Amino acid sequence: MSSEPAAAHDLAGFPGLRLPLPTGGLELRRWEARDVDALVAIRDGDPEMIRWTPVPQPYTADEARATLAKWDGRWDAGTGAALAMVAGPEGEVVGEIDLVVRSWVDRTAEIAYSVAAPARGRGFATRALEVVRDAAVGLGFRRLVLQVEPGNHASWRLATRCGFRLEGIQRAAAMHQGRPVDLAILAYVVMPDAGTSSGP
Ligand SMILES: CC(C)(COP(=O)(O)OP(=O)(O)OC[C@H]1O[C@@H](n2cnc3c(N)ncnc32)[C@H](O)[C@@H]1OP(=O)(O)O)[C@@H](O)C(=O)NCCC(=O)NCCS
Repeated sequence: MSSEPAAAHDLAGFPGLRLPLPTGGLELRRWEARDVDALVAIRDGDPEMIRWTPVPQPYTADEARATLAKWDGRWDAGTGAALAMVAGPEGEVVGEIDLVVRSWVDRTAEIAYSVAAPARGRGFATRALEVVRDAAVGLGFRRLVLQVEPGNHASWRLATRCGFRLEGIQRAAAMHQGRPVDLAILAYVVMPDAGTSSGP
């Protein structure tokens, strides 16, 4: 990774979100067509991805191209900001983090993330979530949510360390690899007068 970030630029749909986001040793940038293999490497066949996410398996290069096209569409429409986590001298893609707008009117958004298995436990997801959380608040979002399976301890610890608080469990909220799963809602809420709040 270069210590000098590339020139920041504004993006359609996200005026005010300037990339790459400064994360200290980790760069968050838009996905590019050349990242197909990196996205496959993060998502395909990893037991934790299979266990905890709805990502289709096997996850092929065609799936990755479709995902990148979907993310480009969200950027263009102003409905999502999908970012690659990039680290190291070669600018290796080590993870993904995705801000999806739920409502610009209500200022609510959802965040999802994953880190490639060999890069886990080095704080990449923590730094990325902190930076995207703060960037989202800077854009005016007041409520950010994560949906995490209750047994996903790595993701749960990460979420709570970054200030997200449990609001409840949605039972049988999604299908992961053909299996119904419960999903916890963890939220980061910015109250106008009281700063960050975990509840009413
Ligand atoms: C969840 C995930 C993104 C975390 O990424 P990461 O870069 O390893 O996260 P960090 O290094 O910033 O921090 C991980 C935290 O979880 C802890 N952790 C890691 N693996 C753990 C495990 N198996 N059980 C409990 N805690 C674990 C780490 O110790 C650290 O917490 P701590 O610093 O308080 O000890 C990564 O494990 C992952 O991609 N998992 C598979 C996909 C996934 O679950 N995505 C999220 C769906 S909601």
